[in-house]
Amino acid sequence: MSHNQLTESGRLHHFLSIEGLKRPLLTEIMDRAEQFSSISHQQVKKVPLLRGKTIVNLFFENSTRTRTTFELAAKRLSADVISLNINTSSASKGESLRDTLHNLEAMHSDMFVVRHHQSGAAEFIAQHVAPHVSVINAGDGCHAHPTQAMLDMFTIRRHKQHFPDLRVAIIGDILHSRVARSQIQALATLGVGEIRVIAPKTLLPTDCKTLGVHVYHDMNAGLKDVDVVITLRLQNERMQGALLPSSKEYYQCYGLTERKLSLAKPDAIVMHPGPINRGVEIASAVADGPQSVILEQVTHGIAVRMAIMSMTLGSQAELYEVTA
Ligand code: CP
Repeated sequence: MSHNQLTESGRLHHFLSIEGLKRPLLTEIMDRAEQFSSISHQQVKKVPLLRGKTIVNLFFENSTRTRTTFELAAKRLSADVISLNINTSSASKGESLRDTLHNLEAMHSDMFVVRHHQSGAAEFIAQHVAPHVSVINAGDGCHAHPTQAMLDMFTIRRHKQHFPDLRVAIIGDILHSRVARSQIQALATLGVGEIRVIAPKTLLPTDCKTLGVHVYHDMNAGLKDVDVVITLRLQNERMQGALLPSSKEYYQCYGLTERKLSLAKPDAIVMHPGPINRGVEIASAVADGPQSVILEQVTHGIAVRMAIMSMTLGSQAELYEVTA
């Protein structure tokens, strides 16, 4: 991906990928999210940072968590937010993506939050919008889900603080997972001590070793002494042909059960970006158990998305005033 997401002065203009972003910027996102998370506990859950700005959610693919938390984040920043229903929009009458964008721009939109089933869609949109419009990637094909990765990093920091001391294991369908790709980039940028991926050979990308991860095919070895366990859904909608004998067999080998989790450190946290498939990649006893922070991840999504939206659209001076 080639589009520059930063301004000449190094500020975020778009947020398309973790790739190319430096540690201080990722840390700044988490620090700002820390300030914004307190707003959710106030009686009036709003700050006027993006008052007068117009944000359009463009979700070409289904979503529960990302779409809703982006909408809540925009509202808490006092922006005007519209979630366009693509199925009932004029895209279904043959209007091209570029024409849809130009029409939304003509309504003086300031930001597009884009989810699309094709890798590179958010970058394509960023290349074709007016210079003042920011684009945030809310998940594109198998490529990237950078705001998910940042809310995951924020959740890890809340529990574990010091990234270099950590051993993190990501289990499952790495091959089709935009979340795993963005998480690995963020974990590496933040200096995590050891990043492991645990998966059958058929669910690993061929360039896996170049990602700087340790590869395991066996859960017993891969989970030993890890601090953070991240499980992933099987992305059946992106699989071409059968890559697994059956979901039952997958669960036996790679499903996160209480027994397998006991191999990790006793204070290990369990994460999942959602949606979860109980009895496929994770047992209910683990998903709902004391080590699970899965719903916390969802809550943190609001503050992290507020941080990213305000950093792309808000002026620095305003930001300091409101969050100081
Ligand atoms: N984690 C995630 O992207 O969930 P949704 O598909 O529900 O947005």
